[in-house]
Amino acid sequence: MSDTAATAIQQALAERFGEDVPVDQGLTGLDALARIAGHRSHRRFLPRPVEPDLLRLLCACALSAPSKSDLQQADIVIVRDRAIRQEIVATIPDMPWIMDAPVFLVFVGNGARLPMLSKRHDKPFPNDHLDAFFNAAVDGAIVMTTFIQAAAAVGLGTCPISAIRDHPRIIAKALNLPPRTVPIAGLCVGWPAQANEITPRLSLATTVIENRYGERDLMGEIEAYDRRRAALRPYRRQRNPERWGQAPFYGWSQDKARQYAEPTRTDFGAFVREQGFRLD
Ligand SMILES: Cc1cc2nc3c(=O)[nH]c(=O)nc-3n(C[C@H](O)[C@H](O)[C@H](O)COP(=O)(O)O)c2cc1C
Repeated sequence: MSDTAATAIQQALAERFGEDVPVDQGLTGLDALARIAGHRSHRRFLPRPVEPDLLRLLCACALSAPSKSDLQQADIVIVRDRAIRQEIVATIPDMPWIMDAPVFLVFVGNGARLPMLSKRHDKPFPNDHLDAFFNAAVDGAIVMTTFIQAAAAVGLGTCPISAIRDHPRIIAKALNLPPRTVPIAGLCVGWPAQANEITPRLSLATTVIENRYGERDLMGEIEAYDRRRAALRPYRRQRNPERWGQAPFYGWSQDKARQYAEPTRTDFGAFVREQGFRLD
């Protein structure tokens, strides 16, 4: 069993990073590592419901994640009402899988409870600055990640949806978000309709740093990644060829440069301030 799990991990990581990562077959928890190493997002789901008790179990597991200073600043909204989900989906016309997913969740960073405690106990709250927002956002992201892993452990597929932040005021209205809360991302959840492929990642030489950052050929690493990824998972379409033309070689870095050549979510900071966070 551990032999199979170790091989699965090695294969997944070789595909992911283009290098061999040694795996000690004597480790415990190799099955869990194999699931993590083999991660992939899912956007097509079987028409099979996710039982409410299972969903509750996964929420409880997700909310068991670590939390900054034990402040517990993450919430999960289960969007069961189709009309509310439709309001959200109407802001994201190019992602039909959101409506098709058996379950749609929204992970929320909740910075409202902490100042309530200060008020309740008649204490000052001199920490209303960027860190307050950041802590709530990080807690929300950690809880979402933990949910994704808990869901994968029982065979469910997921796809995070940050596109809910394209029109955050509509989302805030649809979900009746209280002041000092922000939507981190949505999450489609369901039983996967297909196996899906592993998405290669930047080399470990790019993203794992020993001790301190130093001189290195970052662009060389990225270009090597572009080639490795294009050989394994070429992009089906080039982004916005009307504006940028057809590139003879189209890699990840070209795609991300094109994606971020268009302004997106430029008013998100204004929205977060409207929600009552101070970002100074
Ligand atoms: C915070 C976050 C937001 C994301 N938002 C979206 C989204 O709006 N729509 C979507 O289809 N996928 C979204 N994704 C999924 C990513 O596109 C996906 O993780 C990435 O392409 C790598 O693929 P993989 O998860 O299969 O490894 C999001 C992922 C994360 C972590």
